[in-house]
Formats: sequence, C-alpha cells, structure tokens
Amino acid sequence: MAEKQTEGDLDLEASISRPSKSEDHMSPTEKSLPILFAVVIAGFFLLYSFSTSSLKVHVTDASLAQFNHTTNNGQLHYNLALNISIRNPNTMIGLFYDTIEAKGYYQDRIFGNVSLPVFYQGHKNRSVLSPVFHGQRLFWLTNSEISNFDSETSDGVYSFELILVLKGTAKAEYWFKTAHFQLAYVCALQVPLTSTGKSADQTTPCQCYYF
Ligand SMILES: *[C@@H]1O[C@H](CO)[C@@H](O)[C@H](O)[C@H]1NC(C)=O
Ligand SMILES: *[C@@H]1O[C@H](CO)[C@@H](O)[C@H](O)[C@H]1NC(C)=O
Ligand SMILES: *[C@@H]1O[C@H](CO)[C@@H](O)[C@H](O)[C@H]1NC(C)=O
Ligand SMILES: *[C@@H]1O[C@H](CO)[C@@H](O)[C@H](O)[C@H]1NC(C)=O
Repeated sequence: MAEKQTEGDLDLEASISRPSKSEDHMSPTEKSLPILFAVVIAGFFLLYSFSTSSLKVHVTDASLAQFNHTTNNGQLHYNLALNISIRNPNTMIGLFYDTIEAKGYYQDRIFGNVSLPVFYQGHKNRSVLSPVFHGQRLFWLTNSEISNFDSETSDGVYSFELILVLKGTAKAEYWFKTAHFQLAYVCALQVPLTSTGKSADQTTPCQCYYF
C-alpha cells in the first residue's frame, strides 16, 4: 500500500473500501473472508440484541383454591393455578425453550416448583404457560411469618412471588447463528382464595420483571 499510516492507527476503513493492489492477488476464499466476517458480526449483534431486549412476561390469570397452613405441625396445603403469557417481541429471532421451570414463593420461601412442557416460539409470537402448584409439604414459618399469614388469612388474599426460569437456544431466523440463553423473571402476585368469592382481576395481568 502506498498510503502512509499514522503510527499505531489501523486504517481499517480505507483498506476495506478501497481496492488496493494486493487484493488482485487474493484467492476467492480470501476475498470472501470480509463478507463472512460481516455476516458473523451481524448475527452476533442480532443475538446480542435479543439477550438485552427481554421477553414480555405477564401473569394473566391466578386462581387460589387452597392455601392452608397449620402452625403446630408446619403442614402447608396449597393449590395455586396460573396462566402466564410470554411474548417474543423480536422480529428475526426464534426461541427453542429447552427448560421451563416455575417456582412459587411465599414469604421468600419456595413452596412449589413445576416443570413445564418445552416448545418452539417463533418471532413476534405469544405463548401461554399454565403451571399449577398443588400439594402438601412441611413449611415451617417463624412467629412473625405466622402473624403475616394470619392477617392475610383474615383478608383472604395472599402475596406470592413467582419466579420463572427459561433456558434454551435463540436462533436468528434464515441464518445459522444460535446462542444459548438463560432468563429469569419475577412476578409479585396478590391472589384471593377462590372461596372468598373475590376476583384476581384487580391484580392481573401482572407484569413480570427480568432479573
Ligand atoms: C387459563 O386460561 C384458560 C384458557 O383461557 C382458562 O380456561 C383457565 O381457567 C385459565 N386458568 C386460570 C387459573 O384462570
Ligand atoms: C383448611 O383449613 C380449614 C379451616 O381453616 C380446615 O377446616 C381444613 O381442614 C383445612 N384443610 C386442610 C386440607 O388442611
Ligand atoms: C423442583 O426442585 C427440585 C430442587 O431443585 C428438583 O430436584 C425437582 O426436580 C424440581 N421439580 C420439578 C417438577 O421441576
Ligand atoms: C405463532 O402463534 C400462532 C398462534 O398462537 C401459531 O399458529 C403459529 O404457528 C406460531 N408461529 C410460529 C412460527 O411459532
């Protein structure tokens, strides 16, 4: 190359946009390298933009048939059913969900976890997950937690946290680039016992936050 380079400066733009003598001696493979490089970089940025632009996750329905805690034996009977909407807002990225786990927390302690069926979600598509936390377990509460439980029982409305963990592979559509992802969302829920006749409509849809 005839042109002088300022010391330490990589004159990338000039060497790419201006054909130089040395390019005439490049093999076709060498010539296509910058294009391949550009494709890989573009795919990388597309997938990078996916991980930073999170999915739209909402709890759309919540129904609490039972939430019984017995102080003297620590037994908790629970039956909480949810509908969770997940929207993939990306224009060119499809998502293969490999693992979907929903975890239910009461007073910062896990009381139930559910694995949900895996699926493929195309771009700009919405899917609904329907976890049901139903069972009985030992669930000791401290004195202050028992008094919180008692006051919620008299209101007939309980506060829960849902944590949703999504693992899988993001794929740039019409392309070969893929990237693994692991995303977690948390939703704070207020759910009335069905027997009170109160509706959960006041607290749903409830937005979940990426964390
Ligand atoms: C979830 O959605 C389905 C279909 O709309 C509905 O039948 C079901 O009752 C919903 N679940 C809850 C917990 O509201
Ligand atoms: C739930 O609590 C009620 C009274 O508060 C009690 O009668 C009932 O047996 C309990 N159910 C279970 C499954 O523990
Ligand atoms: C619930 O969590 C435990 C502990 O992490 C795990 O061993 C179990 O497989 C989970 N159950 C489901 C249904 O995901
Ligand atoms: C998008 O969702 C609709 C309905 O929810 C479904 O029929 C369609 O197959 C989905 N497309 C992809 C690419 O997943």
